[in-house]
This record gives sequence, C-alpha cells and structure tokens, in this order.
Amino acid sequence: MGLVDANSAGFVHGGTVMKLCDEVAGLAAVRHSRCRVVTAGVDRMTFQEPIHIGELVTFTASVNAAWRTSMEVGVRVEAEQPREGTVRHTNTAYLTMVALDDDGRPAEVPPLEAESADEQRREREAQTRRRNRLAEREEIQRSRAEEV
Ligand SMILES: CC(C)(COP(=O)(O)OP(=O)(O)OC[C@H]1O[C@@H](n2cnc3c(N)ncnc32)[C@H](O)[C@@H]1OP(=O)(O)O)[C@@H](O)C(=O)NCCC(=O)NCCS
Repeated sequence: MGLVDANSAGFVHGGTVMKLCDEVAGLAAVRHSRCRVVTAGVDRMTFQEPIHIGELVTFTASVNAAWRTSMEVGVRVEAEQPREGTVRHTNTAYLTMVALDDDGRPAEVPPLEAESADEQRREREAQTRRRNRLAEREEIQRSRAEEV
C-alpha cells in the first residue's frame, strides 16, 4: 500500500480495502460460475485493525455458498510488514455476487461442492447470513406495510 491509499489519519483508506475486496470477490465468483458477475450486496465488512502504508496486503477469496444465481464470497485480508515478516489478519468481508447471462439477466450457477470441514463450515455460515438477511428484509417490509 502506498501514499495514494492513505486517509487523513495516515492509514490505508477503508474504501480502498473495500474496493479490492469487491474485485477479488468478483474474480472468485467468475471462476466459479464462468459468467460475468455483479455485486448484489455486501453482507458484512469488518475492520479489525488498521493497515499501514508500506504493508503488503493479500486478499484471499473463496466462494462459500452457491444458490440459484447468486453466490456468497468470503474475503480474508492480511497485511504483512515486509521488513519484520509479521502478518496480521486485518479484515473480513462477505459479498453476494450474482451471475449474469449475455443479456444481463441472472444466470444459474453450478452448485458448490463443499468437501473439507472448513468448506462445510463456510457454507453453513453463509446459509445463516443469507437467512438473516432475508428475515431482516421481510421484517422491515412487514413493519413498513403496517405503517401505511
Ligand atoms: C443483482 C441484480 C442482478 C438482481 O436482479 P433482480 O432483478 O433482483 O433478480 P432476481 O430477483 O432474479 O435475483 C437474482 C439473485 O440476486 C439475489 N439478490 C437480489 N438482490 C440482492 C441483494 N440486495 N442482496 C443479495 N442478493 C440479492 C437474489 O437473492 C437472487 O439470488 P438466487 O437466484 O441465488 O436466489 C440487480 O439488482 C442488479 O443488477 N443490481 C445492480 C448490480 C450492480 O450494479 N452492482 C455494482 C457493480 S458490479
């Protein structure tokens, strides 16, 4: 990360980290679906620790779950201090990406085969986040409908 990535406090700007998370999540979703994808939502983005200018930042993405046309991609961000060799886990993000066909309509994606224990845990947790997101939307819609 260089000076152009800095915020006024001298750390890496949160928006820079979010943009790179979005890019890496998009690439993971394209690899899984072999389609063009769009970001439908960011379900969560945490900032555990600031990233410093001069640190080497690595973004690791995995498709955690695949539904009909959407996928949840998890991104883990790690910052390495190259002179010391220390690595810190700085951010985690979960994004929902939707595959599109050539006409720009949502396209079906291949199912995910979660094999290892870690993959199965990630899929389980992605299902929880989707359930919570849909339940929240339903509750808000219900309460708005009651207001009118
Ligand atoms: C995402 C988008 C394609 C969904 O279109 P839509 O007409 O709502 O399509 P559908 O209702 O068929 O939903 C398609 C999928 O998107 C998911 N989806 C739609 N809105 C969502 C949201 N806000 N968050 C998470 N998932 C969402 C649906 O759950 C569905 O998934 P499923 O098929 O796996 O069940 C559309 O809203 C869009 O193009 N948004 C703009 C995307 C964009 O510009 N992103 C930034 C640049 S990449």
